[in-house]
Amino acid sequence: MKSPLLLVLCLIATFAAYSQGNNYKQNYTKFQNLAPTPPMGWNSWNKFACNVNEQMIRQIADALVSTGMKEAGYTYINIDDCWHGDRDSLGFIHPDPKRFPSGMKALADYIHSKGLKMGIYSDAGSQTCGGRPGSRGYEFQDAQTYAKWGVDYLKYDWCNTEGLKAEGAYKTITAALQKAGRPMVLSICEWGNDKPWVWGPNVGHLWRTTGDIYNCFDCINDHGSWKSWGVMQILDKQEGLRQYAGPGHWNDPDMLEVGNGMVENEDRAHFSMWAMIAAPLIAGNDLRSMSPATKAILMNKDVVAIDQDAAGIQGFKHTVKDSLETWFKPLAGGDWAVCFLNRSKSTQPVNVDWSRDVINDAVSKQSIATNAKPYLITNLWTKQAMGTTAQPLKANVPSHDVLMIRLRKQ
Ligand code: GLA
Repeated sequence: MKSPLLLVLCLIATFAAYSQGNNYKQNYTKFQNLAPTPPMGWNSWNKFACNVNEQMIRQIADALVSTGMKEAGYTYINIDDCWHGDRDSLGFIHPDPKRFPSGMKALADYIHSKGLKMGIYSDAGSQTCGGRPGSRGYEFQDAQTYAKWGVDYLKYDWCNTEGLKAEGAYKTITAALQKAGRPMVLSICEWGNDKPWVWGPNVGHLWRTTGDIYNCFDCINDHGSWKSWGVMQILDKQEGLRQYAGPGHWNDPDMLEVGNGMVENEDRAHFSMWAMIAAPLIAGNDLRSMSPATKAILMNKDVVAIDQDAAGIQGFKHTVKDSLETWFKPLAGGDWAVCFLNRSKSTQPVNVDWSRDVINDAVSKQSIATNAKPYLITNLWTKQAMGTTAQPLKANVPSHDVLMIRLRKQ
């Protein structure tokens, strides 16, 4: 090199060329504004497990609209495990050609044509929990494929992840979704193993706090190497987590079992408590054959409104007496939801003296103002007016049932 100037120019050109190819900065932050309130929709797993196909999913989308579920706020049609076929020679994933012969793009188009959104499922490990191809090593390619299909929601599971660290694995898929460029809700499903509530809020929109739900009110199903949990067991595992939830980032106590076999009052208690803890409301039953009782529970607009309240404050357990739990949830504008949950085998009395029982919430800094104008009380299941907080509230709650009320500021 004869001239030092030439040398400098050469170096600049080389650096410019090098940095051209490397100037993409990964974005490990989730898409914003996708879940200001807990996501609502339907997922195939609780009822159908691996038995998914495009005809059934289309029928469910139809039913979501025709039953009024869409109108009540349920938006996502989420296909869980086992939709997968094989990867091709270039590594692209394809749906099972027998179960989804028209392909995922056509299915997403159909779901979108109904004004709904489509969710899909993958796994951070080498294989999904159902033994289908996982996304490990294919994260960016899979995210591009899902974006091309028109997917709006990704549930990302945690089976077969030996050696992976959860925070890094979920940040990788978030970066991949960002690179693919189509906004998607990211549902973190690592069962609460590695405290996703600590690192999850910027990475995903919801995170499972526990292992899988089991369709019973109060039991544990022991599968040997793992357990699944009844509704009450899952509820107890939410202790200490409410401060991590809020608009855009939610604790996920797993999908609903309403309509899958518990008795009506247990389904009602399950749904009420999921609303009290601002859980995502992802129905898990067969929407094509819902009983009137199941419909009345899933589409109780007053209870859905408690879940979907704009303040996004997760409710809390205040007292327990003789297996009767009293839960409170502060709402936007100064109203409150109150739920009395009877876990015992016999009817339990409720007796609240609002002037004496002071309710302060240290997390949201809200309190029930007992010296202001009394609140109006409405029973959210019977729709009956129950007086005001000027008088003590007396009622009976049947076994495995709730009394759920709204205190309305006057
Ligand atoms: C895990 C998840 C479930 C479901 C199954 C699918 O168990 O926690 O919600 O997605 O995998 O195999």
